[in-house]
Amino acid sequence: MEIKQSALSNKSPFDCANLAEWEKRSQIFGTDPKGVLFKGLPDIFNEHIHNWQLKGILAEIAINTEEIRILDIGCGYGRISVPVLQTLPRAKITGIDISQNYVDLFRQNTGQDAFVSFVEDIGSDLGLFDYIICVTVLMYIEDGNLENTFKNILNNLKKKGKLLLIEPSSSGTPFQTCFGLLSLIKINNKSAATGMGGNSFKYTSLRNIIINSGARILKEYRLPVTTLFFLFIYVFTRTLPAPGRFLLQMISKMDEFLKFTKLPSIYVFYVIEK
Ligand SMILES: C[S@@+](CC[C@H](N)C(=O)[O-])C[C@H]1O[C@@H](n2cnc3c(N)ncnc32)[C@H](O)[C@@H]1O
Repeated sequence: MEIKQSALSNKSPFDCANLAEWEKRSQIFGTDPKGVLFKGLPDIFNEHIHNWQLKGILAEIAINTEEIRILDIGCGYGRISVPVLQTLPRAKITGIDISQNYVDLFRQNTGQDAFVSFVEDIGSDLGLFDYIICVTVLMYIEDGNLENTFKNILNNLKKKGKLLLIEPSSSGTPFQTCFGLLSLIKINNKSAATGMGGNSFKYTSLRNIIINSGARILKEYRLPVTTLFFLFIYVFTRTLPAPGRFLLQMISKMDEFLKFTKLPSIYVFYVIEK
């Protein structure tokens, strides 16, 4: 399954510009969460987003005495897998990522296997997994490859397994960019480090891909309060980090309370079964 970097760059039919950008970004940021979250946000705001993603993922993974197999797609340096392993030390996690540097960091940080691969190219060589984690990766796949990529991901999931998918939602974009104004002060992902993009999904477009592939959405969570107050939180945590922590605790509680509503959200978290 391991594909050499040179083979990816020279022969892959997939998006090599995306690969080059991620390799560069991984070199710039290493294990700094800014590399895989928002470059321009204060650390405590990124930590808040990280905690929300991680809490949702851990809530779905049943604590089991059996060894469980987890695939982390677009694993980065292990931001999600490292704390998952702290909670579930018997889990066997396999990471895949297009960036050789992130794959190396993932191996070092987790002590688990990781391979350089495009998710578009994922086959069945890795076997079946109890859980597949895919956090903000499909957003970098070209539209024409999305449906097939999604089906290939599902082919790696065991029958009662769960795909834990988090992707950006276009419903949150106006709040994240303050209706376009914030691109001027570069706090959103599109202006991060290397100028790379990535899609925010319309609710129906990602949902249709999931449903058309024959999968079932068991749950959907959102992050509405963080989204609606995005600019306020940004300014507050930037200027007053200590009380900012208290504010973020309050926001987390309100987000938890409203997570199943259909309010705008920068991300949607899907729990998916085949
Ligand atoms: C926004 S980061 C998220 C990283 C990690 N999932 C996390 O949440 O910490 C996106 C990751 O996906 C990887 N990636 C981007 N396009 C990919 C592709 N086509 N196939 C596999 N990985 C990809 C990048 O190298 C990067 O590590």
